[in-house]
Amino acid sequence: EKGGWSSFMAKEVAEEPEAVANTILGRVKDGQVVIPELDGMDELFAGVQRIIIVACGTASYAGQVGKYAIEQWARIPVDVELAHEFRYRDPIVGPETLVVSISQSGETMDTLMAVKEAARLGAKTLSICNTQGATIPRESDAIVYTHAGPEVAVASTKAFVAQITALYLLALHVGRIRGTVSPAEAARSIHELEALPEKIRWILENEQEHIEQLAHWMADTRSVLFLGRHVGFPIALEGALKLKELSYIHAEGFAAGELKHGPIALIEPGQPVFVMVPSPRGAATLHAKVVSNIEEIRARGARVIAIAEEGDVAVLPFADEVLRIPLAGPIFEPILAVVPLHIFAMGLANAKGLDVDQPRNLAKSVTVE
Ligand code: M6R
Repeated sequence: EKGGWSSFMAKEVAEEPEAVANTILGRVKDGQVVIPELDGMDELFAGVQRIIIVACGTASYAGQVGKYAIEQWARIPVDVELAHEFRYRDPIVGPETLVVSISQSGETMDTLMAVKEAARLGAKTLSICNTQGATIPRESDAIVYTHAGPEVAVASTKAFVAQITALYLLALHVGRIRGTVSPAEAARSIHELEALPEKIRWILENEQEHIEQLAHWMADTRSVLFLGRHVGFPIALEGALKLKELSYIHAEGFAAGELKHGPIALIEPGQPVFVMVPSPRGAATLHAKVVSNIEEIRARGARVIAIAEEGDVAVLPFADEVLRIPLAGPIFEPILAVVPLHIFAMGLANAKGLDVDQPRNLAKSVTVE
């Protein structure tokens, strides 16, 4: 039920705070992450040597964000692969590999087949899924459900933030078992994680109108680029995918560091570019590098829309628009930075009079290969 909202997507974006909060619920005990569904798996987590994340579309971008958290806190090397690519390349997988699948529907055929292939090769499989009792979790050795609630709109939004949340919880859970994250750091991280729902709410209350207005002004835009670095890179990819699928315009996401290796040639006067600005509280060089990317594209006439933390004044001289997100620190920023991009893609599709819940040519779950 849309319950008064203009679309399921509008309702689901508004539910992003609860999606994060409900995914954390019941998984924090005495200042530590404890995932009851993973009881009895400590030995496996202690011994695992490699994690491969398999997923498609938006879920694969959640996986790319999760890679940073798992490597940081659990110190296990992570590869993220599109499920359809994994399956057809004779992957090197064995009992020391944990294959983590991510799927909102739990019915995506490509992801299901990748999970089956991983199991056939002797890997343990863990499913991060939003749909209770779906096929992928049933075929997996372990399940961590995201509790985003049913997602109806074809474009995945609240499931995406819940998937990242689940990956952070998994990273902290495994890090505790392996002793790779100190209790103090875990407690600090949990505190940050628990603060996210309120911060998403802040964006919805304070920036939504501004972003919708911007989308309205940009209704005739033919192409939009997205730049990000570190955890901001998969968010740039997600911003581009949302815009393609909802408003049928050319959109592409790049790693900001790649600019001078090719994409900067695309910049001509008036080209809109969204830039995810890393938290200035993280690695200073990362922030400075992205600010200098902004200067470079601005000098070539790009119209820069910066997504930046509140109080980050370094971007002001070069950005045409600044979309503010609350302070969250480097690793947590993606869950906030993606919210304006969801609102923007929805706003642009609305401005063009398109059906945001059911874009052309797409299905909510892709149950064919
Ligand atoms: O149900 P799944 O999470 O397995 O779906 C994966 C993709 O098909 C899905 O995320 C798709 O990319 C969305 N339409 C993106 O908004």
